[in-house]
Amino acid sequence: HLSTTPSAREGKIERLTVFGAGLMGAGIAQVGAQSGLKVVLSDVTDKALENGLNIIQKSLARVAKKKSPDDIEGFTSKILKNIETTTDAGKAVEQSDLVIEAIIESIKVKRDLFGFLDSKAKSDCIFATNTSSLSVTEIAESCSKERQEKFAGLHFFNPVPAMKLVEIIRTSQTSTSTYEALKEVTLRMNKSPVTCNDTPGFIVNRLLVPYLLESIRMVERGDATPEDIDTAMELGAGYPMGPFKLLDFVGLDTTSYISQGWRDKAEAGQISKELVQPIELLDKLVKEGKLGRKSGEGFYKVSHMIE
Ligand code: 3HC
Repeated sequence: HLSTTPSAREGKIERLTVFGAGLMGAGIAQVGAQSGLKVVLSDVTDKALENGLNIIQKSLARVAKKKSPDDIEGFTSKILKNIETTTDAGKAVEQSDLVIEAIIESIKVKRDLFGFLDSKAKSDCIFATNTSSLSVTEIAESCSKERQEKFAGLHFFNPVPAMKLVEIIRTSQTSTSTYEALKEVTLRMNKSPVTCNDTPGFIVNRLLVPYLLESIRMVERGDATPEDIDTAMELGAGYPMGPFKLLDFVGLDTTSYISQGWRDKAEAGQISKELVQPIELLDKLVKEGKLGRKSGEGFYKVSHMIE
């Protein structure tokens, strides 16, 4: 059931709709609610929504322990009051000022969703995708010319409640007022925005993914163990997690998927071919279902870390 409170004050984003109740979508809904936005979280099944609310509840309990140790329950329920859920995509965007999409990384599914939402949302509603590997421009082209001016990438990082960065991706069509509104709402979410053109991997993944892939190649060549490489990068370069802990954390399938997608872009000369050569060890682990934290095992056995 969706409430019907007054819509946004002129130009200011008050109502956020998030599509996708997985780890990223749940995190985005949570930080939106924490910043005082009215949030609608939408996914295709009730089960997915339940799972998303569970992720949010666990994370909020963690935040509350720090911010409001004497009233964890009160803190959590106050923020949860800002979040409604629905499986009805059309209803979910009826009053929305901003849509953030964090569903499966499939260009077709994303384009179908945005194409549908274009006719359902208010004409001034901003559309944003949290894609990490697809072209924002190609996704935006599923919408009308007018909406393409209100379309951008808004890329969050895992775990969303803890990571302070948001990449704002401007396409050649994104208007300055859309960009400014996204910057403003990102700051309200207590995140630091950076801006990047619509290029493979934007800033963080463009640099992070080749580093992760090269660390797997080091192990494949027998140069060093995953444990020693992690220790080296944590203690020698000050990274909070070494590359193998991070690979398990992000998901080996996700990393492999990004690298595969980039191979096509390499053909088109947008990224150098050597960076994204296939890696047997990575393909083997993914085939065996060793995806990292989400499956209980990746480079490490991580079943004890799953929440
Ligand atoms: N919900 C809420 N808060 C959380 C949280 C969660 N799920 N996870 C961590 N936190 C908070 C903690 O409460 C703590 O808060 P505090 O600073 O106020 O005390 C803070 O984050 C640090 O957490 P911990 O003390 O428990 O543990 P660590 O210091 O080891 O930090 C980490 C954990 C933040 C995950 C850190 O190890 C880290 O930064 N790792 C690297 C993560 C990273 O690189 N992510 C990007 C991946 S790439 C990506 O997402 C792009 C995609 O497109 C593939």
